[in-house]
Amino acid sequence: MCGIVGYIGKKQAAPILLEGLKKLEYRGYDSAGLAVRADDGEVTVVKTKGRLSRLAERTGSGALLHGTCGIGHTRWATHGEPSEENAHPHKCMDGSVTVVHNGILENYRELREKLVRKGYTFHSQTDTEVIANLLHYYYKKYHSDPIDAVSRFMMRARGSYALAVLFEDYGDEIYVARKDSPMIIGAGRGEMFIASDVPAILKYTKRVYYIENYEMARITREGAEFYNIDREPVEKRAVRVTLDENAAEMGGYEHFMIKEIHEQPQAVELTLNSYLSGDYVDFSECKLCDKFLETDEIVIVACGSAYHVGVVLQYVVEKLARIPVRVELASEFRYRDPILGKNALVVAISQSGETADTLAAVREAKARGIRTLAIVNVRGSSIAREADKTVYTFAGPEIAVATTKAYSAQLAVGYLLALEWARIAGRIDDVQCAAYIEELRNLPQKIASVIENKDAIQKFAAENSTVTDVFMIGRGIDYAACLEGALKLKEVSYVHTEAYAAGELKHGTISLIENGTVVFGVLTQSEVLEKTASNLEEVRTRGASIVTVSFEGEKTAEAKYAFHVPRTDELFAASLSVIPLQLLSYYVSLQRGLDVDKPRNLAKSVTVE
Ligand code: F6R
Repeated sequence: MCGIVGYIGKKQAAPILLEGLKKLEYRGYDSAGLAVRADDGEVTVVKTKGRLSRLAERTGSGALLHGTCGIGHTRWATHGEPSEENAHPHKCMDGSVTVVHNGILENYRELREKLVRKGYTFHSQTDTEVIANLLHYYYKKYHSDPIDAVSRFMMRARGSYALAVLFEDYGDEIYVARKDSPMIIGAGRGEMFIASDVPAILKYTKRVYYIENYEMARITREGAEFYNIDREPVEKRAVRVTLDENAAEMGGYEHFMIKEIHEQPQAVELTLNSYLSGDYVDFSECKLCDKFLETDEIVIVACGSAYHVGVVLQYVVEKLARIPVRVELASEFRYRDPILGKNALVVAISQSGETADTLAAVREAKARGIRTLAIVNVRGSSIAREADKTVYTFAGPEIAVATTKAYSAQLAVGYLLALEWARIAGRIDDVQCAAYIEELRNLPQKIASVIENKDAIQKFAAENSTVTDVFMIGRGIDYAACLEGALKLKEVSYVHTEAYAAGELKHGTISLIENGTVVFGVLTQSEVLEKTASNLEEVRTRGASIVTVSFEGEKTAEAKYAFHVPRTDELFAASLSVIPLQLLSYYVSLQRGLDVDKPRNLAKSVTVE
């Protein structure tokens, strides 16, 4: 959460910083700010509450700020409400240290009290202002240099941070440090960039340095020097990122969310093709051998939509491989002292690869000596680097806050893993495996055909956009798809939506059903289809308006609206049944005049717990 950019070079910094922040706005968007150092050394800070466009207006698209070195920030509030005062950058009391920060300083109260006792005063409620003053305090107390001050800060700080700092006495330099919050450094010719995410700087350079936890860097126009927390130099090589700059552009679509919904066939196809070799699954590129995958206990850890992928996979893997699978919310797993067998395999799923709780869950498993496997979209991200093995999804940059294509690509990797576990466990033979693979290869085309029929969903959304309560019910994999559909609808359209296992509705929740309540039934699983149909009938007789999502040609339940998806193997049905629910969420949000790509209170990657 929160986006950081920095620039030092020969060009004017402010327009470059604004451009970078625009690419990062999905990480947080309740306030934004810039700090630019003029040639005479003075650092000017401009901050605004609200979207980045206001900051651009205030600074004449950057033209009003002169200087070739600067840092910028777009914020998702943690400490202190969204306001101009709390927006970053923050200066220390005498203005000589300027900081932007991503993360949470957990012991900020104690540090603030210490600084207050030393005579420091504060203007904001943020932990970041504490960091600026603490750096100043160490810098002055030890008559030190910035690297010394930052390393002392790192030794005292608890929590997570990615920092970019300007020291008045070190005019042509930017200092950065990180722990548990992402930060990269881009190398250009006679210019350097910093960013919390690669897309912010892709236009300028594809040569990137990754800094690890408890590392710092001193950045000048000519390059970067890296240090560990003991201030010892660290050797690093820049890596070339392969991301396409245009992949993070809207490309003619009105919003990123609809663009990314349309990119799902491609994301799934690319992901499948990367790990399929004829009739076989081939994870050799990820160095995933049978020995690593062999297990009698799979524990999936993830958050939000990635957790919902885990719920689908629990059904698929248990059915195909007959290996017990547990799906856990990473935020719970990390603190509940989980019981894990020696031969367990912990599978972390994350689009960003930076979700704080999922990362902590990986660390928790590793600390217990348990193997970890990550399914991640963002190359080089923290989870990808820390897990024992990583299988990447090929969804490309996902910019809309609500995930769609990454969810679909994660499912694709999950299906392939399920086939591998089933093969290793001797549950399926080559012929069966080939048949499943053939069906998987058909999925992208089938997803595309659901998207092509979006008009019916758009019409439904237009007619029902004032709805206040929606339930989505299903059993098994259909229930898992409902979990994702309900999250999509509530997060982008603010319609109260709940997913329920169809059989569970009667145990209390059915009392909420009244005339006109919209209940979606997802019905693709033949074994339980009639059961869900009966549950729908129960709510229909109590006044609910029924909408069904089922396979083409399937007779399911009496419904006011019926949406169909092409038939596929039932194990892969979530990949299709979720599409109408994604489209519905998008169109309802639009109909209600909301900012579908940046829903209120949210941020794309949740790097704080
Ligand atoms: C919902 C959504 C979130 C993420 C969750 C995990 O649309 O995008 O629920 O799925 O924050 O994020 P990653 O996958 O980056 O770990």
